[in-house]
Parts: sequence; structure tokens; C-alpha cells
Amino acid sequence: MKLLPFSSLLLPLVLGIVVLRAEKVDYNGYKVLRLSLGESVADIEAQIEELAAHVLNPGRAERLDVVVAPDNVDAVAALAADSTVLTEDVGAVLEEEGEMTTYAVPSETWFTAYHSYTDHIQFLRDLQGGFTSNSEIITAGSSVQGRALTGIHIWGSGGKGSKPAVLFHGTVHAREWISTMTVEYMAYQLLTKYSSDATVRALVDSYDFYIMPVVNPDGFVYSQTNDRLWRKNRQTVSSSSCVGRDINRNWPYKWEVPGGASTNPCSETYKGVAAGDAPENQGLVAQVNQLRDARGIRLYIDFHSYGQYILWPYGYDCNLRAENDAEMRSLASQAASAISGVSGTRYTIGPACSTLYATTGDSTDYTDVVGNVTYSYTYELRDQGNYGFTLPANQIQPTVRETWAGVVSMLQNA
Ligand code: ARG
Ligand code: ZN
Repeated sequence: MKLLPFSSLLLPLVLGIVVLRAEKVDYNGYKVLRLSLGESVADIEAQIEELAAHVLNPGRAERLDVVVAPDNVDAVAALAADSTVLTEDVGAVLEEEGEMTTYAVPSETWFTAYHSYTDHIQFLRDLQGGFTSNSEIITAGSSVQGRALTGIHIWGSGGKGSKPAVLFHGTVHAREWISTMTVEYMAYQLLTKYSSDATVRALVDSYDFYIMPVVNPDGFVYSQTNDRLWRKNRQTVSSSSCVGRDINRNWPYKWEVPGGASTNPCSETYKGVAAGDAPENQGLVAQVNQLRDARGIRLYIDFHSYGQYILWPYGYDCNLRAENDAEMRSLASQAASAISGVSGTRYTIGPACSTLYATTGDSTDYTDVVGNVTYSYTYELRDQGNYGFTLPANQIQPTVRETWAGVVSMLQNA
């Protein structure tokens, strides 16, 4: 008697929440437009950002790729000096990305599909569970919504923490799913090949590897539940209803320099209110500083997509060169050769700002200068815009394998 009215009150509430949470952007009919902006770029860019669902390559004003809802296509095209359609129907491309399959145990099969965040964490735990004597699960602080930034630490014959660090970060930007798979493959190869492959054994015996496949877990989950093309974290700001800071514009080094990030909370490259005010950055900063103060960091790679670039500092100034610029170029050049040797995939290499665009508060400027890292790189993985962030599942294995060759080459030359 008492139960009925109570539950009949609660039920709509519960249902309401479920319905709200399940709301997901339907990209059917959305187009990707490539725009040339012509004169008075900044003003037009702002108007376009208002109308577009997403900017795919924020920072490159002279050739802007935007995702636009069917109703806004004409308005956006009219604002640009010139426009071409890159993708007729984003919804159709998303279907090609493939289903998420249910997960068994770590094996090569893992790298044939994309996976949920929960399964990624389970994969790491299972992988670690197979190699308990030379690996452990690590965390680097937590996200806005309280998810631990989770990774795996792998060491060799010298014992835990005895060697210089190699640090890999993936999925800084939520929609760059191929980076999650790639960073996981690095851990998978190092652990599963350690006892059978002399090259791998030599690497694992020379370095302590700290491997973080998803450093933006909230954004990643949101890209799976609500908006496949979400980029930033999920942090709010009191001055705006827009959500999210760009974790790769929030690192506390040259954060204040103008031009390489946005002060608009609605922008894809919103830098935040203060340097390092994203919890994810606080955790990652502490991780970098701690490794620096322990055995030092030999190599840092921040894995992104897309574009096929290997970039090194600096992001904040196009004229500045790192003191070991020639060595960084040499390692990058050999890595690019190793990659094309596997598959023919061509990478462009160079200092980040002059090669791609300016960024302030980015990871590699911080790791290079404050983290005192010997070699700091950003990889922009496949492809060059054909599929962009939604790379089909049948390209996961080719991508992770060619990238492994590039990373091995870097490690051997570092
Ligand atoms: N595409 C990434 C980003 O926008 C990496 C940029 C690398 N740095 C640079 N200055 N281009 O955050
Ligand atoms: Zn990115």
C-alpha cells in the first residue's frame, strides 16, 4: 500500500534522468566543410564558430575544417571566401568507424575495434595482471568528474624506478580515439614481447615506461555517450554556460602568451581562467615534475590525431628553436622513415609552431622546459583528413603497428 505511491513518484524521476543522459548528437546529414576565409579573418572566424557544431582544426584560420548541421551549411558557406565539402554526411562516416565489441583478454584482437572507457581500464588491469613482476597500475591525479588518470608503469632488469623515464600520454583530446589504441599498443608490445624479443628487452631494461592511454577520461566518456566530436575536458566556468578547457592549452608554461589559445569558454581551444586550472593538468604536471626529480625523463610523446605529423617544441613561438633542435629533428626524421618503411604512411616533421600552428600552454613546451625532458614530441597520427578523428576500425592495426616502429626507432636513437 505504501510502496505504490512512493515508487510511482520516483519512477518518472529516474526515467527523466535516463532520458537526459542518453541524449546524443545525431550527426546524420551534417557536413564537413573546408573554408578559406579571405580578409578580416578573426571576425568571420568567430561568426563561423557560432554556427558550426565543431571546428576540426582550431588554430588554422587560413584553412578551417568545420562540422556543420544541415540547416547551417548555407550560412557558413556564405561567410567564407571559398568552401568545399570534405564530407557529405558525417553520420555515414561514423557508421564506418565500427561497433564496439565485447572484450575478452589482452590480445592482438583488442586492436581491431574501439572500446568503452570501462573496457580500456579493464584491459590495462588485465595486461598488468599478466606481468605482475615488472609492471604496476599508476594514477596521476583525477579528472573534473573524479575519474583517476590511469596508466601502467613498466620496468626491466634494473628494478622498478631505476632508469630514466619514458612518458607517453594519449587521448588528451577526447575525440582522438586512435591515440588511445596506439598508446595501449606501446604497453602491450613492451610487456608481451619482453621475454621473446631482444630489441624490446633492451629497451625495457634501459628505461622505466610510464604509459597513460587516456588522460582526459571525462571528455573521452562524453565523446562516447553524448558527442563523438567532443575535444576538451568537462570543466565548467562561472562566466559561461559553455563547458570544457583544452588540456593542451592549460599547461603552466607560457600559458599567458597571447595568440596560441582562446579566452572564449565556447572555443575548442579554451585555455581556462588560470594556468594549470584544469585538474587533469594538475595531475599531469605533478607526474612530469616527479619523474623529472627522480631519474629524469628521456623521451615524452603526446599522442594526438590527425594529420600525420611529428612535432617538437616550441608551440608558443614560431621563431624559437630548442637547444637540441638538430637532435630532435634527427630522431623525428628516422622515426618517420621507420613508419613509412612499415606501411608507406608519410609523416611531416618539424618544430610545432612553424610546422602546424601556434599553441600556448601545450604539453611539449612544458615538458621540454620545465620537465627538462631530453626529447619531447607530439605525434599527430592517421589520417590526413579523409576520415579524420573517426578513423575506421580496420585502420587501427595498421596505425598502431607503424607507430610502434616509429617509437622503437626513437627509443633506439635516444
Ligand atoms: N593538434 C594538437 C593541438 O592542437 C597539437 C598541436 C601541437 N603543437 C603545435 N604548436 N602545433 O593541441
Ligand atoms: Zn589533439
